[in-house]
Amino acid sequence: MKITIIGAGYVGLTTATSLAYLGHQVLSFDKDTSKIESLKKQISPIHEIGMNELLMLTKNNITFSSIFITEMTEAEVFLIAVGTPPMANGDANIGYVESAAREVAQLLKQGQRCTFVIKSTVPIGTNQRVKQIVNMTLRERNIECHVTFASNPEFLRESRALYDTFFPDRIVIGSDDTEAIDILSRMYKHLLNQDFQPPSFLTRPDDYKLPALITTDLVSAEIIKYAANAFLATKISFINEIAGLCEKIGADVTEIARGIGQDHRIGKYFLNAGPGWGGSCFPKDTSAILAVARNYNYDMPIITAARKVNNRQRMHIIERLQDKIKVIRGRNICILGLAFKPNTDDVRDSPAIDVIKILQERGAHIIAHDPIAINNARKEFNETNIDFKENAEQAAEHADALIILTEWPEYNELNWYKVAKLMKTPIVIDARNQLSPEKAAEAGLDYTGIGR
Ligand code: UDX
Ligand code: UDX
Repeated sequence: MKITIIGAGYVGLTTATSLAYLGHQVLSFDKDTSKIESLKKQISPIHEIGMNELLMLTKNNITFSSIFITEMTEAEVFLIAVGTPPMANGDANIGYVESAAREVAQLLKQGQRCTFVIKSTVPIGTNQRVKQIVNMTLRERNIECHVTFASNPEFLRESRALYDTFFPDRIVIGSDDTEAIDILSRMYKHLLNQDFQPPSFLTRPDDYKLPALITTDLVSAEIIKYAANAFLATKISFINEIAGLCEKIGADVTEIARGIGQDHRIGKYFLNAGPGWGGSCFPKDTSAILAVARNYNYDMPIITAARKVNNRQRMHIIERLQDKIKVIRGRNICILGLAFKPNTDDVRDSPAIDVIKILQERGAHIIAHDPIAINNARKEFNETNIDFKENAEQAAEHADALIILTEWPEYNELNWYKVAKLMKTPIVIDARNQLSPEKAAEAGLDYTGIGR
C-alpha cells in the first residue's frame, strides 16, 4: 500500500519506518529541511531506541521529502502526524493539521480515492474540521475525489515508540465510513495478526497477546486518546499524593505501590512516585481535555486536581532539599538527569527543568548532568548559574547537595562511595526513588527519597 505521512517527529517517523518495515511504500514528509536531510542519510533526528537501525532496514521502502512532490499524491492513505502544540488558553493548536490537510487536498487528482487519517492528538471536532477543509478545497478546485476520513490515535511512549508500535495493546480506528476502517485494517494487517518477523533489536514478549482492534466513531476515537493520557497522569498524581501522606506518617510509598499494584484492578504500572509527570503528552493533553470541557461549561475536578498535584510535586522536591540544607542561595546543587524520563533526550515539560529554574530563582548555582539531553536542556537556560558536565561524578564535585531527577540506569551503577567523598556535603535527594536507602546509607550518603 502507498502511504504518505505528513510530519516526521516522534510519532510520524515511528509510524513511517514501522509501516515501511511491514512492506508498505511510504513517503515521509516534513517541512523541516534539516530533519529530512538527516533522514535521507538514514540518521535519525530523534533519539529513539532502534530508529537508526530501522532506517537502514527500510531504506528501499521509504522516501523522505521536505517539499510536496507528485509521488506523494499517489498514496491511498494520507496520514497526518504534525505537532499540535498548546496555545495560551491550554487548547491544542490544530493550525498545522489544518494546513497539512489543505495542502494535500490541493494536490489530489480528479477521481482519486484515498483516506485521510489524523494521528496527531487533536481536540474534539478536529476530524470533522479536516473533512470540511478537504471537501471545501476540492470544491474550490472544481474536482471530485472519493475521500474517506479516520481518526487513528497513537499510544507511543517516547524511547519505547518502536516497541509500542510493533507490539501495541490495541489499535483504535474512529470513522463513520466502513471503507476507511477496511483500508486501515488492511494497513495494520501485519500488526493485528503479528505475522511478521520483528527486527532483531525488538523482541516480541513471550506473553504478548494479539492487539484488540477497536473501531468506533470519530469523536470517541479523539476522546479515547485524551482519556487514556488523563487516566495515566491521574494515576501518577494519585501515588504522588499518597507519597506525601507516607512522608507525614512514616510509611514507604514504594511498599504501598507494591501492595496495591498486585490488585489486577489497579495494576502495578505507573505507580512510581517522583517529581511529577512531564513530557510532550501528559501536560499538554490534560490541559487540552480541560479546555474542551470548558467550552461545554463542564467541570472536571479529577483531572484539574491531577494537574494541581503534579505542579505541587515540583515544589515538594525543593522543600525536601530545603529541609536538609535550609538555605538555597549561594549553594552548589548537582542535578542528575534533565530528560523528562530515561532513554530520551526530550526535555519538554521535564520536571528537572522546572526544578532547576526554581533553584536558580532562589540563588543556587546548578551543575547538571544528563547522558544525552544536555544539548536540548541548554536551550532552556541562559548560561548563567548553570554548568553542564558530561560526567556525573564531575557534576557532583564540591556540591552542597545532589538531586536525582531522571532515573537513568547508569546512575544505579555510579560509585556512590566516591560521589559521597567528592561532594562538599553528601546530601542526596532521590526524586525518583532510584537508589536503595540502605545502600545509599552504606555509601555514606545523607539520603532522602520521595514518600519514604
Ligand atoms: C505528535 C502529535 O502530532 C501530537 O499531536 C501528539 O500529541 C504527540 O505526538 P510529535 O511527533 O511528538 O507529535 O511532534 P514533533 O516531534 O514536534 O513532530 C511534529 C513534526 O511535524 C515536526 O517534525 C515538524 O517539523 C512537522 N511539521 C509541523 C510539518 O511537517 N508541517 C507542519 O506544518 C508542522
Ligand atoms: C505517554 C503515554 O504513556 C503514551 O501512551 C502516550 O501516547 C504519550 O504519552 P510518554 O510521555 O512518552 O508517553 O512517557 P511515559 O512513559 O508515559 O511517562 C510520562 C511521564 O510520567 C514521565 O515524566 C515519567 O517520568 C512520569 N512517570 C511515569 C512517573 O512519574 N511515574 C510513573 O510511574 C510513570
